[in-house]
Amino acid sequence: MPFDRVFLDELAARNDIVDIVSQYVQLKKSGANYFGLCPFHNEKTASFSVAPDKQIFHCFGCGAGGSVITFVMKAEGLEFPDAVRFLAGKAGMEVPTQGEADRQAARRRDRLYALCKDAARFFYDTLWQPENRAVQQYFFNRGLHRRTMNRFGLGYAPDNFSALLDAMKAKGYTREEMLDAGLLSKSEKGRVYDRFRGRVMFPIIDVRGNVIAFGGRVMDDSKPKYLNSPETPIFHKSRNLFALNLAKTTRNGYFILAEGYMDVIALHQAGFDSAVASLGTSLTEDQARMMARHTSEIVISYDADGAGQAAAQRAIDILGRCDLQVKVLKIPGAKDPDEFLREKGPDAFRNLIERSENHNAYRLEQIASKYDLEDDEARVLFLKDAARMLAGIDSGVEREVYASKAARMAGVTPEAMLVEVKRELGIRLKKRKTAERREIRSPVGMAQPKDRSLTYPDIKSAKAEEGVLRLIFSDQKLVAGLKKDLPAAWFSAPVLRKIYERALELDAEGHMVDVVAFEGYLEPGEMSHLTRVLNEGVPAAEQQKALLEYINTIRLQRVKDGTTAEQGEDPLLTFGRMKKQNAGGQTI
Ligand code: GTP
Ligand code: MN
Repeated sequence: MPFDRVFLDELAARNDIVDIVSQYVQLKKSGANYFGLCPFHNEKTASFSVAPDKQIFHCFGCGAGGSVITFVMKAEGLEFPDAVRFLAGKAGMEVPTQGEADRQAARRRDRLYALCKDAARFFYDTLWQPENRAVQQYFFNRGLHRRTMNRFGLGYAPDNFSALLDAMKAKGYTREEMLDAGLLSKSEKGRVYDRFRGRVMFPIIDVRGNVIAFGGRVMDDSKPKYLNSPETPIFHKSRNLFALNLAKTTRNGYFILAEGYMDVIALHQAGFDSAVASLGTSLTEDQARMMARHTSEIVISYDADGAGQAAAQRAIDILGRCDLQVKVLKIPGAKDPDEFLREKGPDAFRNLIERSENHNAYRLEQIASKYDLEDDEARVLFLKDAARMLAGIDSGVEREVYASKAARMAGVTPEAMLVEVKRELGIRLKKRKTAERREIRSPVGMAQPKDRSLTYPDIKSAKAEEGVLRLIFSDQKLVAGLKKDLPAAWFSAPVLRKIYERALELDAEGHMVDVVAFEGYLEPGEMSHLTRVLNEGVPAAEQQKALLEYINTIRLQRVKDGTTAEQGEDPLLTFGRMKKQNAGGQTI
């Protein structure tokens, strides 16, 4: 965090969220909160809310949410530090120059960069040791040239629990630093050991050329096939793209978006130097925005299997939102670009790119392939199916172009097709209105988070975890004792655990536990999730009792899944006893 906490608290205190939002949105008071039309998506009914007591905003329509700082970031299109300066200006506050704490944090990050670079060098050197010929051969067998391997800094982590640990210790790095960089793992007993063992190593390099993380692959069929670095202070998976450091200087007018490390490396070796990959997750908006800084067209080149095609559909939407032209490649007769290149060569791949279709055409063909267009009845069904997809195209011109194409495919007139599309547009509008109305009436929404990357693995536990967070945000005194009674490791939902850990930390350091303290710390999706959770409100009385019940529920779930057992007790016994205890109280 580049700003001092005390300064940010003061900044938030002097910029009341209702005042600031009112400068952009017409707000109406209803109960304790204010409502208005969301400035961040198109809507006709007000699903945008501001809660003055918690100083947060949240939109039940698009999910946007956060403190006054997030609001300004979104409304003014500013990055975090600039939004802070903007608000400081409004409040007539001076922005403090970097404090000692920030300088220290910056120094710590620089150490992690240096450590990752040294680790990459260690893996590289290890790969080229004579005793590791078999590993070198693994890469050669996959068709890589030595030059390509050097360009990507590929390496090898020996099958040993302390090879890297010892080598980096000798260079003066501490265990703490190696843990922070995600290079070590910790056993239950607190012993630390090399995270990557017996794996070929792919360094992940940020856009400025720093090594920030690694992916490691086994050389046989064992699982997991790939192991990646965890999130660290210098590595945020959702905000990096593999090989963007190389692709950003391409002279190609387009980027190629692939799924895997090996796909990207094979593409670069074959001369396609604008290939990048999202790091083993579905594409995020941050990643799309990063590409949009360097190109205006993306050729999606995902795996040919069902999962790859489904991921392509999701990527189309995300890329479209960033105003990127999107084409989708179909890879015939191979499972991924790497395999295709090895079997058919670069020219064949270039042909695929030239023949790749605009994503709307691609979708139409996907639909058409489900129907026998020689058959009259099937043709009618195809038209209806296609009309549903066409109604989803925002631009009217494009909609007409593809409606004509669909009409040609089915052998009907464009007018007939357009009538069908108009009908679908009407249905869509009605559905959206009902959905908006429903969301307003039941802001609690569904049990699972909106953002699918935040899915709850254990809903029952997560609901109690949400309850705990709501309570400590509403009354910080409740934090006392939690560190002992409710270990963060018991939280089942990673996003809630992350928030809980930070809340304990803030409290321990004597800071306020409020949403502003999470700005710049949570990803936008996580932030809007937090505001949604907090919007639900807390029981007015007996909060201490409610807290105990939440803790019991969570503990019971952890005993059930074997994460914990009461000291010296058979887990089954614990389970039975706790169940009885819980049955006495209120169930949550
Ligand atoms: P190979 O060609 O078999 O080396 O793999 P690939 O590059 O074709 O990757 P694949 O299509 O199997 O998976 C795509 C990407 O998903 C990989 O590059 C990884 O980033 C990620 N991935 C695949 N398997 C795993 C796994 O077991 N765990 C994790 N965390 N990520 C994985
Ligand atoms: Mn592959």
